[in-house]
Amino acid sequence: MKDDGYLDLSDHDSFSKGVPHNTFERIRKEDPVCWTEEINGRGFWSITKHADILKINNNNKVFSSAKGIRIEDQTEEEYLARRTFQETDPPEHRITRMMLAPAFSQKAISNFESMIRDLAKKIVDDALENSEFDIVEKIAKQLPMMMLGRILGLPDSDLEWLVVKGDALIGNSDPEFTDHIVDKLDSSQYRFMPFRSPAALDLYDYAEKILNGEIPIDKNGVLSKVLSSNSAEKVMQPHEFKNFFCLLIAAGNDTTRYSIAMSMYQLSLNNKLIVDLKTNNYWSTCADEFIRLASPTMYFRRTATCDVEFANKKIKEGDKVILWFVSGNRDKEVFIEPHTPIISRSPNPHISFGQGGVHFCLGIWLARMEVRIILEEVVKRINKIEPLSEPTWTRSNFICGVKSLKVRIN
Ligand code: HEM
Repeated sequence: MKDDGYLDLSDHDSFSKGVPHNTFERIRKEDPVCWTEEINGRGFWSITKHADILKINNNNKVFSSAKGIRIEDQTEEEYLARRTFQETDPPEHRITRMMLAPAFSQKAISNFESMIRDLAKKIVDDALENSEFDIVEKIAKQLPMMMLGRILGLPDSDLEWLVVKGDALIGNSDPEFTDHIVDKLDSSQYRFMPFRSPAALDLYDYAEKILNGEIPIDKNGVLSKVLSSNSAEKVMQPHEFKNFFCLLIAAGNDTTRYSIAMSMYQLSLNNKLIVDLKTNNYWSTCADEFIRLASPTMYFRRTATCDVEFANKKIKEGDKVILWFVSGNRDKEVFIEPHTPIISRSPNPHISFGQGGVHFCLGIWLARMEVRIILEEVVKRINKIEPLSEPTWTRSNFICGVKSLKVRIN
């Protein structure tokens, strides 16, 4: 669909050739807090400017996560069946967050640096045995899957299967990832499942096997720590664990894959970036710049808990409020040349990780490190990436990414 500046943000097809940046740009200019009609729903407020997103994200009393975090309308029953700590507000949210935070802290993740480096070297060396290949499949997809497995403590042999299921969950509107396209088929039988997806049934089943000890998990991994938590305040109940497991499989994989894919895509569009990375020391800033441009989870939703006036608009209690991080990340009031990769950009106040809110990404240190290290290992070994085809993009207004990109490497 051509982006004439007027694409429908509620329609997944509007995103099937990449993010409709012209549409977001027009909205930011003309009506940055605007009511958006929905094809299959009651409509929502689109928040498109960086400053407004930060204000709302920072006010969870008025803009709550506890009614759902994606655009889809849910009944209370559906919400309760599917919710994880990401769909709660403080103080409830804080208990699980505090339990998980140490395992994902900068310090904890720094211990994985040499493991990530070894995996990245092997992935890149294997890919470069050929000079032409799909760089998403052979490079971007591999590292996040392997690292998530190691951090969670899952057997290597199950990782590929888990990634297929994770893709089907989070890519629930893309026919390449699922036969059960959420906006085309009747998904009511799966309405109590994460992402209304049948893949969640398989992941629930797998999580059940973990709970029953039928799947061996590493004692030092996050899952084992969560299950053995003896905090009086927090013991994860089996159903909660299953939803939490689905959240991690969905959140920890595609997001980092699409950030790496965006890095590779940008290098292929402008090989001078490769020279700059080889000759200048931009390693501390480049990953964030590519993650800004990728903005893989394009939005998260909040729901107004009371009538409130915001930016001269009357938001009513119960209204859905969509924080379009992907739009805030290209706001020219904050970013000079917002559509250009400036790998030395510093500071880089992007909001791809939901910065500014209590739910800001737990995987931030892991994702940054993976993107940086794989870039280092790629750039060391090559001089040029030549695109052999146009990239293909996810069909989704929630998750954005380059799904495939055929390249020739020199
Ligand atoms: C570039 C990669 C990533 C991006 C862009 C990203 C993006 C985000 C965003 C925007 C949020 C905030 C959600 C909200 O405001 O409601 C979030 C939360 C979260 N992310 Fe990530 N994420 C990435 C990687 C990861 C990884 C690798 C993991 C785990 C291994 C992870 C786990 C989580 C979890 C558990 C939450 C919920 C935190 C909470 O509710 O307190 N993410 N992520």
